[in-house]
Amino acid sequence: MSVCYRELGRREFRAAIGDLVAVYAAAMNPPERLIGGREAIMDRHAASPGFRCLTAVDDGVVAGFCYGFHGESGQWWHDMVASALASRSGAGHSGPAHESAEVAAWLDDSFEVAELHVRPAYQGAGIGRELLLSITGERDERTAVLSTADAQTRARRLYRGVGFTDLLTGFRFSGAEPPYAVMGALLPLTADRPSEV
Ligand SMILES: CC(C)(COP(=O)(O)OP(=O)(O)OC[C@H]1O[C@@H](n2cnc3c(N)ncnc32)[C@H](O)[C@@H]1OP(=O)(O)O)[C@@H](O)C(=O)NCCC(=O)NCCS
Repeated sequence: MSVCYRELGRREFRAAIGDLVAVYAAAMNPPERLIGGREAIMDRHAASPGFRCLTAVDDGVVAGFCYGFHGESGQWWHDMVASALASRSGAGHSGPAHESAEVAAWLDDSFEVAELHVRPAYQGAGIGRELLLSITGERDERTAVLSTADAQTRARRLYRGVGFTDLLTGFRFSGAEPPYAVMGALLPLTADRPSEV
C-alpha cells in the first residue's frame, strides 16, 4: 500500500463527491436513506468559509478523506451545538455568564471537522490520524470541534489520542438519530493530551 495525500479545492471536491460518498458508505455502512441525502449536504458544505478537504489516495482509489470548515453562527451544526452547550445543566456550571464564556471558548474561533472516513480495507494503518493531523495542522483557528457516535469506537479513541475531549455526551441532533458525543480540542492537536479552555 502506498498512499499519498492530496488536497481537493472546492471544485475538485464537488466533482469527487460521488467517490467520497462511496467511501463514507463503505466506512459507516449507514442506512440507504442517509446515503441519498449525503451528496447534497456535502455540496452545501463546500460553500462554507475556510472549506478544506484532504484525501488519501492509493493507486487512484480514494482510501479516505477528511474535510471541514470554519464554524460560524447560522450554520446548522454550529447553532445546535452552541445552544446545547449554553443550556446544558449539571454540576460545575455556574450560570449564564460561565456558560456563554464556555460556548465562546470552544466555538467562536473553531474549525469544524465535518467528515473523516477511511475505507475498511485501509483502516488501522494510521491514515485517519494522518488526515486529521494534517488538515488541522495548517489551520489558524483556536479550536477544532466535531461530533461522533457516543460509543467507544476507533474514531473516539483516535480523537481522544490527539487531544479531543468530550464537550457533550448523549446528544441527539434529532429524535431519530443515535446519541452523539460532541468533542473539542485546542489547536494544534497533540497526542495524548486532553484539552482545556
Ligand atoms: C475512524 C476512522 C476515520 C479512523 O481512521 P483509521 O485510518 O482507521 O485510523 P488510524 O489507523 O489512523 O488509527 C486508528 C488505529 O490505528 C492505530 N495506528 C495508527 N497508526 C498506525 C500504524 N502506522 N500502523 C498500525 N496501526 C496504527 C492507532 O493506534 C489506532 O489504534 P486503535 O484504533 O486500535 O486504538 C476510520 O476507522 C473509519 O473510517 N471508521 C468508520 C467511519 C467512522 O467512524 N468515521 C468517523 C466518524 S466521526
